Amino acid sequence: MTDTLPSSVDAALEMLRNGNYVADRSLSTALYLALKLGRPLFLEGEAGVGKTEIGKVLSESLGRRLIRLQCYEGLDVASAVYEWNYSMQMIDIRIAEASGQGDRERIEEDIFSEKFLIKRPLLQALEEDETGEPPVLLIDELDRTDEPFEAFLLEVLSDFQVTIPEIGTVKAKKPPIVIITSNRTREIHDAIKRRCFYFWVDYPDAKRELEILKVKVPDAPEKLTQQVVEFVQHLRNRDLFKQPGVAETIDWTNALIQLDKIDLDPETVNSSLGVLLKYQDDIERVQGSEAAQILDEVKAGISAGS
Ligand SMILES: Nc1ncnc2c1ncn2[C@@H]1O[C@H](COP(=O)(O)OP(=O)(O)O)[C@@H](O)[C@H]1O
Ligand SMILES: [Mg+2]
Repeated sequence: MTDTLPSSVDAALEMLRNGNYVADRSLSTALYLALKLGRPLFLEGEAGVGKTEIGKVLSESLGRRLIRLQCYEGLDVASAVYEWNYSMQMIDIRIAEASGQGDRERIEEDIFSEKFLIKRPLLQALEEDETGEPPVLLIDELDRTDEPFEAFLLEVLSDFQVTIPEIGTVKAKKPPIVIITSNRTREIHDAIKRRCFYFWVDYPDAKRELEILKVKVPDAPEKLTQQVVEFVQHLRNRDLFKQPGVAETIDWTNALIQLDKIDLDPETVNSSLGVLLKYQDDIERVQGSEAAQILDEVKAGISAGS
């Protein structure tokens, strides 16, 4: 399935929704504009708010290949762009020597041809697929790399070409759709941001989080999802080391279903907090009286509202 780019903000919203992603208008607008202007979309936000998922859903919805570059400390050009298949080259040399074809120049030409090139994500992203359309390139968690890599990336993002000394310059016929994410463990250089359409992905409000749960955990009882969402929203207002993301809300709902719960009670909350909070200090803080107090507020709020 190959679909064309969305033709309006509403179409972008609907495209994401059909891919089971519940976006708000501001995110859909950012996506629509980034696609329209042919700019990379830079998504920054806390872990678990749905940044990576946007790249995945976009590739699925558009029927484009997804090429993912997962960033990490020490990521280098050999892992991000290309490297030579050293062991295959060695074998080739041995075979050539053994069969008496030891013409040095010919061997060199042969072993530095595409056959021995291992293409990594950034090089793959410059090639179109069988349909002739460029892929979606997801550069995930850019904040985990270092500044030299950022500088290199900036170069790739400006001309979508890579030079391999032994082969020549590889240039994309059509630039890929680029999604960059950052969990903001450090600031990304302005030069990269300037090239992109920037969007801060926030935690969803209660209404949107409820919709997300309906899509992601459709079998959950209505009352339970409402309580879960309100509880998590209250929790995000507390002073915590790490607030629960959407991923945690989904996990918690699934966990509660496994426990056959249709209604939250203090004991269940206390015993399952580890699904929501991942730091012992946070769990210790919330467990007990604070959890009970939040639960009271949640239940009072829901019965007042309905
Ligand atoms: N708006 C949303 N609609 C649907 N699912 C979402 C949404 N936001 C987050 N999720 C879900 O939450 C989980 C975490 O999202 P992810 O994209 O991995 O977060 P991040 O990359 O920001 O850390 C995924 O399972 C994703 O499906
Ligand atoms: Mg992510």
